[in-house]
Amino acid sequence: MIKLIKSTFYNEADTKKKLIDFIAGAEQLSIGAEVKKFEEDFAKYQGRKYCTMYNSGSSANLALIQALANMGKLQKDDTVGFSSLTWVTNVTPMIQLNIGIRPLEVELDNLNASKRYVQEAHEATPLKAVFLTNLLGFSADIDKIAEYCEQNNIILIEDNCESLGSEIAGKKLGNFGLASTFSTYVGHHMSTIEGGMVCTDDKELDMMLRMVRSHGWDRNLEEADQKKIREENGIDGFYSRYTFYTLGYNLRPTEINGFLGHVQIKYLDEITKKREDNFKRFMTILEKHSDKFEMLNMDHMDVVSNFAMPIICKDQDIFDYYTKLLMDHGVEIRPIVGGSMVEQPFFKKLGIGDFSELKNAHKIHVQGFYFGNNPELTEEEISGVLDLFDQ
Ligand SMILES: Cc1ncc(COP(=O)(O)O)c(C=O)c1O
Repeated sequence: MIKLIKSTFYNEADTKKKLIDFIAGAEQLSIGAEVKKFEEDFAKYQGRKYCTMYNSGSSANLALIQALANMGKLQKDDTVGFSSLTWVTNVTPMIQLNIGIRPLEVELDNLNASKRYVQEAHEATPLKAVFLTNLLGFSADIDKIAEYCEQNNIILIEDNCESLGSEIAGKKLGNFGLASTFSTYVGHHMSTIEGGMVCTDDKELDMMLRMVRSHGWDRNLEEADQKKIREENGIDGFYSRYTFYTLGYNLRPTEINGFLGHVQIKYLDEITKKREDNFKRFMTILEKHSDKFEMLNMDHMDVVSNFAMPIICKDQDIFDYYTKLLMDHGVEIRPIVGGSMVEQPFFKKLGIGDFSELKNAHKIHVQGFYFGNNPELTEEEISGVLDLFDQ
């Protein structure tokens, strides 16, 4: 059986041993020094000034949208463009906050929204922000999108939960906009079991993100910032512990997640390299069988940090044949991420249009599937999958 997720951690036995020792000796397991240490590691890895950890990538998305709303940067009647091919919790925070949404078409050869689709959407309905999803380690032309957003006063934020480690135009994905979100869920690039991050270079946004994470209070802010906010609101020491300055939730990770992040991030470059090597081998499937599958084009990318290999079949019979063949041979497959959001029941219930013009997203939804690209795949497992496609 080739499972989508092969293990909980890279170097699992060693990581679990370290975790047992850590828990046995820890005085505190609620958010504290380990989370802070991992946030610093992560900000350094990503090359961003600030980083906040959450209990999931979904929480990171929610916190980012709520923080922008709290700051007045996103408001009720604004419209945010989002990649139609994404995960449900990329979109739900905007729906929950009554912010307008507009799905963006994606390119068939890289599965991502591109500048032409952002421009098309903006010309039809002015966009206040674009929440781009960098899908499966890929990007279309995010450097051009960033340029276009800057010229048109559109806030660009990235959902980079699927592309930690990818690079394009000499830059890491996740560094093209005001802020970006990440997931350290077990099935993603590096695992803290559950976990998520938001990175930004904007100090004010970072402060708001920390307050949104924890009840809207100021406890996780720097001392000078706490002092300032207390003075501004006329709050004295006694009440400051239970003062809620803004709209927040409890989206905190634990010290266990922070500790694991600190251990696992050391392997991240190695993990990325192995996955990239696997990805290049899986790309030969598309090269060899261009009559059956849509070709992906990654020539414009410097590093492709992919965790699942997508296959888009040219017709339904090919899809039926290969999905059955792979499942019969124990290869775990799934629809490509959440597929096209506009085809999901939750989206249809919103009644905001049928968006049937999103033809590429539709094709990927109905004729696409993926299988796992794990850094610990054996040679036998990789060649086994490649052989199946030659049958
Ligand atoms: C693009 C994208 N955003 C957000 C998430 C949510 O991450 P998490 O599972 O950590 O909540 C996922 C999850 O798979 C995802 O694929």
